[in-house]
Amino acid sequence: MVAISVAVLVNRLEREMMSEPLLHIDRSVFNNKFDRRAFSLRHRLTDHPLFAIERLVELAQTLPSDQIEYNAGDLPVNQDPDLTPQNGLSAEETVQRIEHCDSWLVLKRVESDPDYRVLLDQCLDEIRDLSELIQPNMHQREGFIFVSSPGAVTPYHMDPELNFLLQIRGSKVMRVWDPADRVVISELDLEDYFSSDSHRNLEYRDEYARRCDRFELTPGLALHVPMAVPHWVKNGDGVSVSFSITFRTAASRDRERLYQLNARLRSLGLSPHPVGASASRDAAKLGLYQVYHRARRILRSVRA
Ligand SMILES: [Fe+2]
Repeated sequence: MVAISVAVLVNRLEREMMSEPLLHIDRSVFNNKFDRRAFSLRHRLTDHPLFAIERLVELAQTLPSDQIEYNAGDLPVNQDPDLTPQNGLSAEETVQRIEHCDSWLVLKRVESDPDYRVLLDQCLDEIRDLSELIQPNMHQREGFIFVSSPGAVTPYHMDPELNFLLQIRGSKVMRVWDPADRVVISELDLEDYFSSDSHRNLEYRDEYARRCDRFELTPGLALHVPMAVPHWVKNGDGVSVSFSITFRTAASRDRERLYQLNARLRSLGLSPHPVGASASRDAAKLGLYQVYHRARRILRSVRA
């Protein structure tokens, strides 16, 4: 009778642990800073078996090669992407030898593996509970796993998605700028970034250094990185494993379209107003964008 009661208790505890949130988010910080400024939070994925090196080697063996990017890890902050040095290893070898091979590797869109898809969805469902109230229509959920050697550097760059970077193993320091700082990232930079196939790396200038926020990430900590925020990263003394959970929203998609449209207007010799300066002007431009693309689709189908 006692044994049955203990078994029931253990079962109940296990279920409670399973149902406990994976992320610990301060609701008021989230409401104030989401997609406006970087902020830290906690998670409880540090011991998750999907991030063991053996499992990551298996993932590197099964992901298509265009979903794996890797190179030497001792890069400068200001790295010309065309001159990024390679490490002479395969992706699997890079993960296996990550402690000593002085490399940086990212496994992209890991949700193509069903195990990682489930975990990504669990995490992003928790974020969606809060983000939908601020920016509806979370979509294009994508997960990235960064595996990097002691001291490796991710050069100065920005990304198009909204991101939560979960530090699983090792430590790293992230320097993150204010997305509204137009000294560091101009409207022209943003228009160019979203309307061309330019690489994520940006040109870094020493005078930017005093304008950033510095975050130290250790296992169990995570950092929210808003859309299109310049940042660069340096690993600590150990191997680092980080899980980046990313998504788009209706608002982020609109911003991308507005930058593309402004780039087009600028190429016609006009001087468009900055994105976000006027909600009504942005809405009118988005209407124009939709009409333009609908007309193009119709023309294409007529020609076909
Ligand atoms: Fe990034």
